[in-house]
Amino acid sequence: MKEWTREEKYRYLKDLSEIKELHDRAEKSVYRQNYHIQAVSGLLNDPNGFTFFDGNWHLFYQWCPWGAVHGLKYWYHVKSRDLINWEDCGIGISPDEGDAPDNKGAYSGSGFVLDDILYLYYTGNHRDADYVRHPFTLLASMDREGKITKAEKPLFSENPVYTEHQRDPKIVYIKEKEKYYIILGAQTPEKKGRVIVYKSDNAVSGYEFAGELSVPGYEDLGIMWECPSIEHIDGKDVLIFCPQHLSLPGRGGSQNHNTYLVGKMDWDKLVFLPEGKLEFLDFGFDFYAAACAAGTGRHILSAWMGLPDVTYPTDEEEWSGCLTLPRELSVKNGRLIQKPVKELESLRKEEIEAGAGDYENVKLPKAAELLIKTDAEEGSGFSMRLFAGKDGQGGLSVSYDASEKKLEIDRSGMDIVFNESEGTSRKLQLSAALSELRVFIDSSSVEIFVNDGEAVFTSRVFSTEHEKYLRTDRGKAEIKIWSLK
Ligand code: FRU
Repeated sequence: MKEWTREEKYRYLKDLSEIKELHDRAEKSVYRQNYHIQAVSGLLNDPNGFTFFDGNWHLFYQWCPWGAVHGLKYWYHVKSRDLINWEDCGIGISPDEGDAPDNKGAYSGSGFVLDDILYLYYTGNHRDADYVRHPFTLLASMDREGKITKAEKPLFSENPVYTEHQRDPKIVYIKEKEKYYIILGAQTPEKKGRVIVYKSDNAVSGYEFAGELSVPGYEDLGIMWECPSIEHIDGKDVLIFCPQHLSLPGRGGSQNHNTYLVGKMDWDKLVFLPEGKLEFLDFGFDFYAAACAAGTGRHILSAWMGLPDVTYPTDEEEWSGCLTLPRELSVKNGRLIQKPVKELESLRKEEIEAGAGDYENVKLPKAAELLIKTDAEEGSGFSMRLFAGKDGQGGLSVSYDASEKKLEIDRSGMDIVFNESEGTSRKLQLSAALSELRVFIDSSSVEIFVNDGEAVFTSRVFSTEHEKYLRTDRGKAEIKIWSLK
């Protein structure tokens, strides 16, 4: 693996032509995705500034141009009319050199549409002459022509009560109060993860520190909460965040998680009162930094299909990272329901003849959707393998134990096993018997939606030349397969 010097990681990009070779090389990879947003070169991490503005969905992603390394971060911009076909709009926000507030990176943040402008709130990852970090909360605005201009001054600088880890502004407008709130992920000097809140009467200026968010029962959950957001969905408030550096049951050795709480937010007292237990947003291996779109009545979420502190097989090819498919959120019985957006149906190209009820060695297209209906309660459960070899061996196993209502995925049977420290299997106890799996396969990922959105398992998988087949091992199912555009 390449060793990076600080100079190499934090090199400023002067012209897009400098990444042409890296981009062309990445494009030749067998693991390049067909219908997911992925790094144009180098590394992609969090989705940023996700909004609906002027007839388009706008998304930016955290981007380090130079390779699979967390170095100097930019916001790279893509837009879409349908959440499916994304147009490349080039760099959205670049860090500035010298003593600029974002001199070592334009870190994550959110967007907000007001009148004819899309406002972008982000963290300036500033390092001083002694290389000490000073985070700034910064603003940029995009007009209808797509021109992005940085505000002259920071919205506010670091809060002296917390450590250098204060970032990822999420802007929330509360109509009844006619107030704008910016929430940030933060860390106390005792190294506890927190959310801190700023407020103003005005979207673009006058922010004052309002206080720390109290989340009773969650005072000691990880050392830092990254990418927090508070969404109002179906009459409930949902606090979404990424607690870091803690071990949670069922997650292997993973130290980074994307979780949520459903509850009630009191914006006057700054208390988020949970109404249920802490939930994972996703049960797969690779999911982090989820962001919900603003500026629309729909609750659409996308996340980084990856994790901090791990490596991926394409790192060798000098690129890494893609985003998840957009999902539509609702709240039912105190939990989030996540469904693939309905627009995804337009990706279906042709239905593949899979044979009736006997699925041995069905060849999977590189880009495919599978709809699996099973009546597992009646029998001994259900199990199948995706990406098995023609000899029926190996692959990603998806199995359901009807007596315990447990669904498990296991990627240890794949030829390329990676990030074993995160564990090689994930299990979930379903609230009802398994009836449906909707699976989206791309060149190097799989997203499995369970029982019409009750749970999702999202993972990167790097299948080799001969790992192409679907095979059911146990139980009965009706399976439809479409190749995707
Ligand atoms: C989450 C994160 C954010 C930060 C960004 C930097 O993955 O660490 O907290 O703003 O990535 O790229």
